[in-house]
Amino acid sequence: MHKPIRKAVLPVAGLGTRFLPATKAMPKEMLTVVDKPIIQYAVEEAIAAGITEIIFVTGREKSAIENHFDISYELIETLKKRGKNEEVSLLQNIIPDGIRVYYTRQGEPKGLGHAVWCAKEIIGDEPFALLLPDDMNWHKKGTGHCLKEMCNLYNETGKSVVLSSSVPRQHISKYGVLDVNGSSMVNNHAPVQGFVEKPSPEKAPSNYAITGRYVLTPRILDILENTEPGHGGEIQITDAMHQIAKEEGFYGYLNDGKRFDCGDKVGFQIANLFFAMQDPYIAPRLQMFLENQGMVPVQSDCISTMQEEPATTKSTLIN
Ligand code: UTP
Repeated sequence: MHKPIRKAVLPVAGLGTRFLPATKAMPKEMLTVVDKPIIQYAVEEAIAAGITEIIFVTGREKSAIENHFDISYELIETLKKRGKNEEVSLLQNIIPDGIRVYYTRQGEPKGLGHAVWCAKEIIGDEPFALLLPDDMNWHKKGTGHCLKEMCNLYNETGKSVVLSSSVPRQHISKYGVLDVNGSSMVNNHAPVQGFVEKPSPEKAPSNYAITGRYVLTPRILDILENTEPGHGGEIQITDAMHQIAKEEGFYGYLNDGKRFDCGDKVGFQIANLFFAMQDPYIAPRLQMFLENQGMVPVQSDCISTMQEEPATTKSTLIN
């Protein structure tokens, strides 16, 4: 029996330079996909996977994240007085009862490895999940996210697990890549013998790229403690993961659903479109707009499937 995964680290101290000027005074993680900040999707994914302790690694200009997860007493009281009960429960469920939240600071954005290391004391000697909030995933099974499946794999094997997506060879040099010894994923997983950071397409050991979700044993914290800064003066996590793969073994879990890089302007727009199209209120209206603009072929059942406007929505029909 392995120690259960109770804690999740969410690093949110990055600069978000790819999203300037939007991220000049607002954290990238607070950008909204449909009606929720990106960071809230990651917290919901963690809670759905059984996590009960959320650790944010924050930095300068990130107080909006703390405010979002704080109790907004005055707002809740005002809404209660106005009988807006649906909105009250929406706010109260941002952090459900029984979930604890911790904040620690990364003084300087010295890379993902360093951000994780900053949470060392709060993590302690137990396995933990790591979620990069701007990397969103979606699949049809179970909770609709990958972390729960990854935790199940950890519980079965006791080994660290990383989420991966299959990416075209020509794009592989943007990613950390899994070395699965030439094999393929069976039942969505395979043992990993090592990792290579941003290899050229010719040298990449596979098409499986690391994508934003990890379940890690605490050994990684000791390795990060002794890791020297690499490219750009940052402490990356991939080298430490490589060492774990050699020492303890590692698994890759394949996301065969969808993945959205919301740290990138194109990925962010696609995520908004995709999640909007999952929403029964928004989807037919968006579809109608796209059809009216000649952006997609006309589907005649669009109007008949349109739902009544919910009481909480103030918007009118898009035309
Ligand atoms: P990114 O690789 O997307 O980096 O970080 P970034 O700095 O936020 O964005 P760009 O590339 O400049 O546009 C992935 C996650 O890791 C966090 C980020 O906040 C983001 O949630 N991160 C990154 C840290 O917490 N600290 C760091 O030093 C780097």
